[in-house]
Amino acid sequence: MKPDQLNYCLIDIPVYVDARGQIVPIEECSTIPFRIARSYHIVGTPVDLRRGDHAHKTLRQFVIAVAGSCGVCLDDGESKISMTLTRPDQGLLIEPLVWHTMHSFSKECVLLVLADQPYDESDYIRDYNDFLQWIRS
Ligand code: TYD
Repeated sequence: MKPDQLNYCLIDIPVYVDARGQIVPIEECSTIPFRIARSYHIVGTPVDLRRGDHAHKTLRQFVIAVAGSCGVCLDDGESKISMTLTRPDQGLLIEPLVWHTMHSFSKECVLLVLADQPYDESDYIRDYNDFLQWIRS
């Protein structure tokens, strides 16, 4: 686990390799620090379009490029960081109140997201100025 000033973590997922290929298991409350309430995956995003562009009030998410790659920008209102997710055996833990944007999806990208809560629109902060107000209040 590699913590940073920003509230995120890159977590290596164990890989079991043999002649048949690789198995990359993720266990709740073990590989990742929460119980999984929801999974979704993002596919087919054109390379010039973005997803995300929001923060969550309470949701925790774990994001893995299980195929292909994509760029991620994180912003907590004070610090920003950009990275590229390229590995099916490493995921990005995005904590609440971190503005996140995914971009530059490769054609074959499959971005798997595990979340600790069901979908709830009221948990989203979709306006950046609202986000800045939230983190300062
Ligand atoms: P949204 O979270 O806005 O996608 P992104 O942040 O990647 O742009 O979701 C887009 C639509 O999909 C929105 O109408 C809600 C729906 N949705 C669900 O119904 N369940 C989910 O788990 C997610 C993530 C989205």
